[in-house]
Amino acid sequence: MFIAFEGPEGSGKSTQIMLLSGWVRERGLSVLTTREPGGTAIGDRVRAILLDHAASEMSPQAEVLLFSAARAQLVSEVIRPHLEAGGVVLCDRFADSTMAYQGYGHQLPLDKLATITEFATGGLRPDLVAYLDIDVQAGLRRKQQHAQDDAGQWNRMEAKALAFHERVRAGYLAMAAADPARWLVVDAGQRVEDVQGHLRARVAEMLQLAIGDR
Ligand code: TYD
Repeated sequence: MFIAFEGPEGSGKSTQIMLLSGWVRERGLSVLTTREPGGTAIGDRVRAILLDHAASEMSPQAEVLLFSAARAQLVSEVIRPHLEAGGVVLCDRFADSTMAYQGYGHQLPLDKLATITEFATGGLRPDLVAYLDIDVQAGLRRKQQHAQDDAGQWNRMEAKALAFHERVRAGYLAMAAADPARWLVVDAGQRVEDVQGHLRARVAEMLQLAIGDR
């Protein structure tokens, strides 16, 4: 089972992934968590190029190909082998990030992005896309707070204009509406445990697990 987590900046994906992975593991399944861009030695080097402020002149086309290169490596080196061994993979962002950020955000043609993605992933798609929805300004504020606290850095993608991030969110919502069987939309403005509750309910149903009380 392959679950991708998507959302605008500051939607709290990493916290939810951490909680969900512990819960699935307690139920006896082998869980692997990873993230994009990155997740492999090669992918982490590509990530550094992509998120570096010094790369401000990077064209959206180059951006797509670099994200896709990191994705191709992650799929073949990490995700596919774990799925083939019967495990559960939780991935912080996947191909729908390219659709949302480079497609809707940068307004590159979605059909071309779909072709590039198909090539990069060998056609692998998530069984579930857990989309954590948050108001763009609230999310960016959360993230900026974090960056100041020390946890993360205010990266090149986050520094883009508000209108860019609004298009990203609208793109996610359009994709979710077009494929409700594969997308779970959760309001990330709720308390952490309530967001987690929605995720567990859906995953329990898909994996036929008991929710339990932990
Ligand atoms: P990251 O620090 O991992 O952010 P987050 O915690 O929000 O996932 O940075 C990843 C950034 O890269 C984020 O702004 C989204 C962007 N991105 C794309 O633009 N296209 C992509 O295909 C992917 C995977 C990420």
